[in-house]
Amino acid sequence: MERLITPTLSLRGRLRVPGDKSVTHRGLMLGAMAEGETWLYHPLKAGDTLSTAAVMRALGAEIHEEGEHFRVRGAGLQLREPADVLDCGNAGTLIRLVSGLLSGQEVFSVLTGDASLKRRPMGRVTEPLRQMGARIEGREGGRLAPLAIRGGGLKGIRYELPVPSAQVKSAVLLAGLFAEGETVVVEKAPTRDHSERIFRHFGLPITVEGNQIRTERARPYPARDLTVPGDISSAAFFIVAALITPDSEVTLEGVGLNPTRTGLLSVLKEMGADLTWEVTEGHDGEPVGWIRARSSSLKGVAVDPALIPLMVDEVPILAAAAAWAEGETFIPNLEELRVKESDRLAAIAKNLHNLGVRTEAGPDWIRIWGGSVQGGGVVEPFHDHRIAMAFAVCGLQKGVTVQDAQWASISFPSFWEDLERLAGKD
Ligand code: S3P
Repeated sequence: MERLITPTLSLRGRLRVPGDKSVTHRGLMLGAMAEGETWLYHPLKAGDTLSTAAVMRALGAEIHEEGEHFRVRGAGLQLREPADVLDCGNAGTLIRLVSGLLSGQEVFSVLTGDASLKRRPMGRVTEPLRQMGARIEGREGGRLAPLAIRGGGLKGIRYELPVPSAQVKSAVLLAGLFAEGETVVVEKAPTRDHSERIFRHFGLPITVEGNQIRTERARPYPARDLTVPGDISSAAFFIVAALITPDSEVTLEGVGLNPTRTGLLSVLKEMGADLTWEVTEGHDGEPVGWIRARSSSLKGVAVDPALIPLMVDEVPILAAAAAWAEGETFIPNLEELRVKESDRLAAIAKNLHNLGVRTEAGPDWIRIWGGSVQGGGVVEPFHDHRIAMAFAVCGLQKGVTVQDAQWASISFPSFWEDLERLAGKD
């Protein structure tokens, strides 16, 4: 579905973005293994998390949609052997985390997904899970999905993460809930800590000391309701849209402000953004608050490589901001972007080129010369929700055509309607 965006003069108003994708995946999984009924309030209901709901149903949990919420009746720690192949769709978080869970179960399962998911590296999870004792087969020796898992009989390991990945950390910790002895994950750089927080919320074993995260075998645990914060990764598109559009002021409400997710806010401040935020409450272990963004004159910066793991999903929208900034922006440490829903480094360079912006990219970095976005460009999403939304924002002011705009519904089904409403076009 192609979408034509006519030039946008100003963006104004308030918005409550959909629930956090990472927290929703984890809430569905841990609710599905609890004893009793968990209500997930304000979850993300979008392509990726509906895939998780379907997979956890196939493993024996009952999951009902109740208005905008989910009601999950847990199956307990022993999941059911699925009758069919489990389809993880486009969701990397689902296939990797559920591989951890299924490694701990005495059942046989096969996990697959769409064309993009079947290209993404799985060796990063199959390797530590095999070390724990799971029997896993897959294409290319277990480096690509489909994956076939026969779990059970796990032993705890100490695992130093070779890549900064919250998905790998979480897969090992989830398997650790079914392993004999202690499981320790060591992180070289901090990554999002939603798993650690949600383990605490459900009373599961977890201790964090410096960069070492420990868990051990879980005992049956009771269901516990969870309110999901708004997704800062979805808020990011509207933050940047307001900053680069004249005469704009947008307030995002009820947004998760977990410090392992706010790297983008720090970089935008350094670029000169008129941006304020405040944590006003905590929901079930996650800090929540508001963010306000006003039109700003941005300037290019060299981004601190240590911030990238704290904004790994926000690099496409940062690139869009850089295209509107004065001068050069240099973004390093982007190796992981090559293996997201698309090769995001290549997709960023191609879309900036389509919009008339000069860039230079290396194996794990990009340099962007701001100030030259042209009207009438075309956005190519490469089957990637965040690329579609980020470059729609980049082309907003001058007008742009977005190909395959339906990809936004993987994480933000109301994105196009929300954009029209704040632009006063609805
Ligand atoms: C996620 C972790 C990140 C992120 C993804 C969600 C999670 O992936 O890109 O969108 O929920 O744990 P990596 O762990 O591969 O960096």
